[in-house]
Amino acid sequence: MTTLTLVEGDITDQSVDALVNAANSSLLGGGGVDGAIHRRGGPEILAACRALRASRYGKGLPTGRAVATTAGLLDAHWVIHTVGPVHSTTEDRSALLASCYRTSLLVADELGARTIAFPAISTGIYGWPLDDGARIAVETVRATATAATEVRFVVFDDRAHEAFAAHLG
Ligand code: APR
Repeated sequence: MTTLTLVEGDITDQSVDALVNAANSSLLGGGGVDGAIHRRGGPEILAACRALRASRYGKGLPTGRAVATTAGLLDAHWVIHTVGPVHSTTEDRSALLASCYRTSLLVADELGARTIAFPAISTGIYGWPLDDGARIAVETVRATATAATEVRFVVFDDRAHEAFAAHLG
């Protein structure tokens, strides 16, 4: 039984088994969630990301995929980095956004992570409309078989909170 929960706050403050990072394909950091996770998680996370780039992900992590590293100084065991699609008005990339949630849950199951915190992937710098981003997040998590006991959506402001609350029903 997986409980879906909603929290307004900073994802780097969460105490869970795995935190999901809204990364970019370079895995070498950025702004938003990515910047916060690297800033507060410390250099160990970036070192692990660099090792992934030097091995399995020479060309970077493709959009929609997920990979785990240590969580460094964060109150979690792992960070699961996933690359959301940049919103497009000419191409429907919804399946790629759904894949971020689905593959992150698969990675969490492989790790044995039972509590996972997700940000609202792609709804910041990548420009995805909040309501649709929330819909895809909730629908995909609900549709994915997982051993997780809690999936926590961590949103940064009350507009995002309203959007997610509307879809969590
Ligand atoms: N905790 C929780 N949510 C946050 C935080 C935080 N510390 N910081 C930002 N957010 C929210 C944003 O308000 C947005 O709703 O997370 C959502 C995702 O925003 P971004 O972090 O900008 O991620 P995304 O839109 O997926 O863009 C990814 O941004 O940071 C770069 O390297 C990253 O290139 C990548 C791109």
